[in-house]
Amino acid sequence: MITPLVVANWKMSIEAPEIREFVASWRATADAAVDCVIAPPLAYLGLLSQVPGIQLAGQDCSSEASGAFTGECSAASLLALGCQFGIVGHSERRQRHGETDDIIATKAQQLEAVGLTPIICLGESSQEREAGETFAVIERQVRAAVRGLHRAPVFAYEPIWAIGTGLPAEPSDAGTVQQAIANELKSIFGKKGDGRVLYGGSVKPENTAEFMSEQGIDGLLVGGASLTAESFMDICRNAGG
Ligand code: PGA
Repeated sequence: MITPLVVANWKMSIEAPEIREFVASWRATADAAVDCVIAPPLAYLGLLSQVPGIQLAGQDCSSEASGAFTGECSAASLLALGCQFGIVGHSERRQRHGETDDIIATKAQQLEAVGLTPIICLGESSQEREAGETFAVIERQVRAAVRGLHRAPVFAYEPIWAIGTGLPAEPSDAGTVQQAIANELKSIFGKKGDGRVLYGGSVKPENTAEFMSEQGIDGLLVGGASLTAESFMDICRNAGG
């Protein structure tokens, strides 16, 4: 039985006072039926380092191990700050920072090399979806991202049109795409690594159970609805069944 993984991606949407409020209200889900992970803004990782029941993720990392790369953050520094995971390939990075499949693959390799589990985001745009290209896009992104990895990472299927729009994918559609990702991972890595496949895009407490009941959905990546402890606790509880 796979333990569900629920990841909060706080992006740049929260500052120290709200994080302190979050921590004060947070209660770990009693039976630890779910792995709860938070990816706060980098500078605030320390505020979450001692919170029971929360594991940490970086929101991104450099494609280089070290050197003269002003403003970048190495995978090793995420490890040193207590992270177990690192998110790479979020569509906001792909679109706003021009990150290619190759750059994302290199970032995932940096994470793996220091012992962190990459959470690799992928997903089709609305134009690609309308053109019937969803599976081709996903297959390309998966194959490119795992090149050079030795163990299965976590993947987060996030259709771009569902992110921050309040319009989530149909759970059954997401489940079908995610099973395809899981099959691909199994054929490449067997049982090595993590291999969980998450859904992301307009997840909220009310739709959590429906997504989690789909075969192929092993967890969730949550943006807006993860910013308060109440809402994120509800999502983690509902994800645990
Ligand atoms: P959202 O964001 O939950 O606010 O749609 C998801 C994400 O960007 O990971």
